[in-house]
Amino acid sequence: MSNYHIKHLEEYYQVYRKSVRNPEVFWEEIAEEHFMWRKKWNKILSWDFSKPEVKWFEGAQLNITENCIDRHLYTRGDKTAILFEPNNPSEGAQHITYKELHDRVCRFSNVLKAQGIRKGDRVCIYLPMIPELAVSVLACARIGAIHSVVFAGFSANALATRINDSDCKMVITSDGSYRGTKTIDLKGIVDDALDNCSCVETVLVAKRIHSEVNMKEDRDQWLQPLLDSASPKCTPEIMDAEDSLFILYTSGSTGQPKGMVHSTAGYMIYSAYTFKNVFQYKEDDVYWCTADIGWITGHSYIVYGPLANGATTVMFEGVPSYPDFGRFWDIVEKHKITQFYTAPTAIRALAKEGVEHLEKYDLSSLKVLGTVGEPINEEAWHWYDDNVGKKKAPIVDTWWQTETGGIMITPIPFATPTKPTYATLPFPGIQPALMDENGNEIKGNQVDGRLCIKFPWPSMARTIWGNHQRYKDTYFSAFENMYFTGDGALRDEVGYYRITGRVDDVIIVSGHNLGTAPIEDAINEHPAVAESAIVGFPHEIKGNALYGYITLKDTGEGRNQDNVRKEINQIITEQIGPIAKLDTIQFTNGLPKTRSGKIMRRILRKIAHKDASNLGDISTLLNPEVVQDIMDNAL
Ligand code: PRX
Repeated sequence: MSNYHIKHLEEYYQVYRKSVRNPEVFWEEIAEEHFMWRKKWNKILSWDFSKPEVKWFEGAQLNITENCIDRHLYTRGDKTAILFEPNNPSEGAQHITYKELHDRVCRFSNVLKAQGIRKGDRVCIYLPMIPELAVSVLACARIGAIHSVVFAGFSANALATRINDSDCKMVITSDGSYRGTKTIDLKGIVDDALDNCSCVETVLVAKRIHSEVNMKEDRDQWLQPLLDSASPKCTPEIMDAEDSLFILYTSGSTGQPKGMVHSTAGYMIYSAYTFKNVFQYKEDDVYWCTADIGWITGHSYIVYGPLANGATTVMFEGVPSYPDFGRFWDIVEKHKITQFYTAPTAIRALAKEGVEHLEKYDLSSLKVLGTVGEPINEEAWHWYDDNVGKKKAPIVDTWWQTETGGIMITPIPFATPTKPTYATLPFPGIQPALMDENGNEIKGNQVDGRLCIKFPWPSMARTIWGNHQRYKDTYFSAFENMYFTGDGALRDEVGYYRITGRVDDVIIVSGHNLGTAPIEDAINEHPAVAESAIVGFPHEIKGNALYGYITLKDTGEGRNQDNVRKEINQIITEQIGPIAKLDTIQFTNGLPKTRSGKIMRRILRKIAHKDASNLGDISTLLNPEVVQDIMDNAL
């Protein structure tokens, strides 16, 4: 039996039991047999969730890029590591072999060093899905700089917040990006952001759309000439197991985004081990995850996990609707994709366009289908199973988070029988618990509660950049000695988990986490707004959409309400990004509040869900009269 590659259900249970009974032996075997170390560890695990402090493989030394690139050079040097599929299919795909990737990463590493970047410095990467994005991530890792990738759909303001929070010395960007038929002026966004960031000394600019951009003297440099003149050899920096590998921001229910900090060794082991098993990756497979590297899914399952396994990983620059809604399937056929990993929102959007877009293509290469990012509804699950996998490719509904670094609850294809809408069983090493509101663990099956994890796993985030107290408060304070996920879940009669959704004020829209507080703060900046509250409501494609209840300072007379609506969405786009725009805006005369002045979102949520028949007792509200008014004017 191999712990590293699970092939049957019985094997899963055996491996799982071992991982729980003796986690240290379990993880040590995996670390020992499947990775390249410069020095072995002195201690496998030390942990204390009350601090919280978690350390895996202390004393070990390594460089993750040696594991992701160098060690494959002899056995797989000419194999495609990254298969780049551009926005415009007529531009043609690029196959970057492991040897070429090594060359490109080394050159980039040398450029970073020549620009004064050293181990531990933070580098912000704000790039579209072009090879330079993966290469720059790996170059940072090679020299020990901490990368902070910011999704290139975020606004200048959101970018500036993230750059300043982690004090980045450099920004890597491009002149612009392609998105279907549109182009986006990324460099202009960076310029606006940097008006408010004094920490950035250098901006490296890749050419993608060949647009005219403004290059600021002494700060901005074109990337390509620097790469061309750099050496293609770069000795990797030797890193300690617990050195930080990257920061990735995620929205919290309140306040600033949280810069989740991931470690080196634990993250590498877990992302690689989950990749191998969850996708049943085999040597000649061509694996494609449609996420953007700006999110954790792209970090773990486009870059690090696949490359640590010597896989061929596809990077797609475009959108599912360009040149038409058959694009995904065209790519599957063209590159004979074997594993396809996407989000429920994409599945729903494609399902709506009809099966004729699929029928033109040969999808018989597909062996495993994956979903991630939000609960998948039954209809979308069946559509995916029937039309994409033709009932032959198991669907892995993978539950995890930016904070967890890797997949936590998932079927193992061909081993775990799947069940629509269920993420099914915990991955080896993961010990979930369902908790009630009084802090007690709910044992047994056919129960639901708040989802926690009771034992550390190698890829858990170690802290929030610059704010360890917030890390403790957010994840380790709700339940004693447990990591609290913020999600609700139920466990069925055989022990399968189904994630029911967030139990806090985070709303997942099209698979993107959005905290309500930052959006409300943006809205409240409009001069006419007195106060606002945002809730989620079900949306056919996006999963959830945003419903804003907004009270204006005067009752709106003399103001064109449609203009105010537009202006509010404009402010949100500027402050956060277009993904946070409101679908529905209802102007209200007041918001329901408790006697202590807290907005009763529960009531607003019910009204937005068109489920106002049972609002419960509202007589204790400070202002019960506004509820009827809101209901009468609900949109
Ligand atoms: O609510 C859960 C939901 O997405 C949240 C994590 O979002 P993020 O940090 O952006 O990471 C997304 C990609 C890993 C979770 O707290 N979520 C993620 N996967 C699933 C899910 N909800 C239900 N089913 C899933 N498979």
